[in-house]
Amino acid sequence: MHSARNMAGNSLPWILLLHFLVIMYSSNGIIGRELGMNHETITSNDDHKHDDHHHHHMDPSLMVFFTMNDLKVGQRMPIYFPKRDPSTSPKPWPKQEADSLPFSLEKLPQLLEIFGFASDSPQAKAMEDTLRECESKAIKGEVKFCATSLESMLEFTQTILGIDSEFRALSTSHKTKSSVTFQNYTMLENIVEIEAPKMVACHTMPYPYAVFYCHSQRSENRVFKVPVEGENGDKVEAMVVCHLDTSEWSSSHPSFRVLGVNPGTSSVCHFFPADNLIFVPKLVQVQSQDGFSAM
Ligand SMILES: *[C@@H]1O[C@H](CO)[C@@H](O)[C@H](O)[C@H]1NC(C)=O
Repeated sequence: MHSARNMAGNSLPWILLLHFLVIMYSSNGIIGRELGMNHETITSNDDHKHDDHHHHHMDPSLMVFFTMNDLKVGQRMPIYFPKRDPSTSPKPWPKQEADSLPFSLEKLPQLLEIFGFASDSPQAKAMEDTLRECESKAIKGEVKFCATSLESMLEFTQTILGIDSEFRALSTSHKTKSSVTFQNYTMLENIVEIEAPKMVACHTMPYPYAVFYCHSQRSENRVFKVPVEGENGDKVEAMVVCHLDTSEWSSSHPSFRVLGVNPGTSSVCHFFPADNLIFVPKLVQVQSQDGFSAM
């Protein structure tokens, strides 16, 4: 049963299952209520999952940041879009199964035994990093939660977006097949702003089964769908989140290094890899601003 040995990354087929679950969850608010999930009980930290990477140089994987000023048709920039092989990436576990295991740094030795990883293995290091990141404290105005199953990810989302509101899941999609992960892309027409009075962003974390680091910030965010085209003709419908207020972020957040700015002085936008998710409430009202068409 605990056979998920590879730590490669993440996957896609579960996206289908997820969309099915989103429909179930967001059309009846019962689940979140039953769980009595409480934000105050969710403690953990830090600003952003990217801090986890401990990059010291301009690692290509950091080339996902830009500012609102650069969000415009014709803008050209290098972007890193990781591509993971769904067949070798960690699978989501059913909630019951995931809940039957501890998920804490303190229990790491026991977990390593269960999964059969040596304590000096790269897998052990990855699990340690993920658990540490998940146990770190949220920054001011942020709520975070590491979900060990799709169900618990949706339950968390429901508590943030409101148990009575329907919501939808958005993710970056690759329109063409290629193995190129880092190249220059140009932003195409039809940049669309997604109305998002509230949002939850979930990032996949290295772990033997699918773990999602989900967080939601009270400060103002804007969500966009940005079509981009790579130099090799690759087309991507990329999801972008722009954080307008970065004043509470750690000064060591990699985006500041990449953009050469300080916390609070600039908006920070970033591209989402395909296996990360953005949840927003479903809204009927359509509103256009700043020359972007809205949906
Ligand atoms: C992007 O284009 C610039 C020149 O316009 C080039 O110097 C740079 O190496 C390119 N980046 C990538 C990742 O191909």
